Amino acid sequence: MAESAKLLIEGKEYEFPVIEGSEKEKAIDISSLRAKTGYITIDEGFKNTGSTTSSITFLDGEEGILRYRGYSIEDLADKADFLGVAYLLIYGELPNQEQYDNFVGKITKHTMVNEDMRKIFDGFPVNAHPMGIMSSLVSAMSGFYPDSFDEKSPDTTDLHIIRLLAKFPTIATWCYKKSQGHPINYPKNNLDYCSNFLQMMFALPVEDYKIDPVVSAAINKLLILHADHEQNCSTSTVRLVGSSKANIYSSISAGISALWGPLHGGANQEVIEMLEEIKADGGNVQKYIDKAKDKSSGFRLFGFGHRVYKNFDPRAKIIKKAADDVLAKLGVNDPVLDIARGLEEAALKDDYFVSRKLYPNVDFYSGIIYRALGIPTNMFTVMFAIGRLPGWIAQWLEMRDQNQPIGRPRQIYTGPEVRDFVPLEKR
Ligand code: CMC
Repeated sequence: MAESAKLLIEGKEYEFPVIEGSEKEKAIDISSLRAKTGYITIDEGFKNTGSTTSSITFLDGEEGILRYRGYSIEDLADKADFLGVAYLLIYGELPNQEQYDNFVGKITKHTMVNEDMRKIFDGFPVNAHPMGIMSSLVSAMSGFYPDSFDEKSPDTTDLHIIRLLAKFPTIATWCYKKSQGHPINYPKNNLDYCSNFLQMMFALPVEDYKIDPVVSAAINKLLILHADHEQNCSTSTVRLVGSSKANIYSSISAGISALWGPLHGGANQEVIEMLEEIKADGGNVQKYIDKAKDKSSGFRLFGFGHRVYKNFDPRAKIIKKAADDVLAKLGVNDPVLDIARGLEEAALKDDYFVSRKLYPNVDFYSGIIYRALGIPTNMFTVMFAIGRLPGWIAQWLEMRDQNQPIGRPRQIYTGPEVRDFVPLEKR
């Protein structure tokens, strides 16, 4: 007999089905709760709410497990390439050689961005944050590809997916070039995805640019580690916006905005700024541990804690090791790495962090690698976004194919009861 859950409300018993995932996670399906009982559930921040079933990413926060379509993050980060992982997330299986060549070939052909997008881009001030620019330009892409929301035209979704994956790094590098006052670089289609990104970022018209394979491999690994993370804030945003049948560009643009926040992807920029501050303040990590424990300070240890992981974030483990490797290979000695290590060690011994199961997350060490690779601080969250793009796309597609109803939570109203309107002169 199928499992069910019983709920007792005002002396009356109600029964609700229990659903079980392929990894034995269980949920009570309360979709009929209000119709049956007149009650809704309330769960601020959706800490216990499953918004969907999904076959893309499995995450076990207690055990520190992360898998894309069944493949462990450790294996993928070690053996795969980013576009292969993007294919896996979006289409469900690792590509064979022909599928891979075809997918990469299509992406390569679409790396150039419509020159009219430059006019929008040129309107941004030189110090505009790249995440704001990215969100605006991705949203603007809907204007260039109106078939993305024309229900009557044939389905061109696959082409929009290719365009997004192809043009996103190109636009990202514009932001950096603008901040430097340098001319933008066009993509070079004889380069792989990560190398092309690097040449667009760092090549100058006045000298040859040599791509360092160590740097390119590190970017590949970091992008894979960020590629999906089930129903996090930005992904839920993408799905929610998409559930209104908004086009894929607008949905992804909303995801970029959600990712920008310092509690989400923006934490990677905050971490480096925090480590720099600790260094400038004499390197006293205990002072900052104490500040993070003091609720009245409003300060949090960025790069620590996670809604789902109550154990080591498996991505953080891989990145910590990669940071050691990359810095050694590049011969970079970054004093903030020592501060990061010291902070981690002190936090993991401190009862405040231990009892709340606060461990380093993906953002704690990633900025140290980005910095060693020459990527400036305000581009860190853009790097996260480049990595997360295939995940957003895969989740948007899944939402669409599941025919997910429009996302529209309810509330419990706590404002005034009905009252008479008071004319302005009598208030
Ligand atoms: N520093 C100090 N205290 C913390 C921290 C932190 N980084 N994170 C959580 N806490 C405390 C929090 O004050 C609360 O204490 P208490 O139980 O006494 O009220 C307890 O730990 C639980 O925290 P919460 O805020 O209820 O947990 P949450 O699941 O709502 O928040 C989080 C998760 C990631 C937003 C939070 O841990 C945080 O703000 N971390 C710092 C920002 C950060 O690094 N974000 C990146 C997340 S990983 C990448 C990504 O997915 O984007």
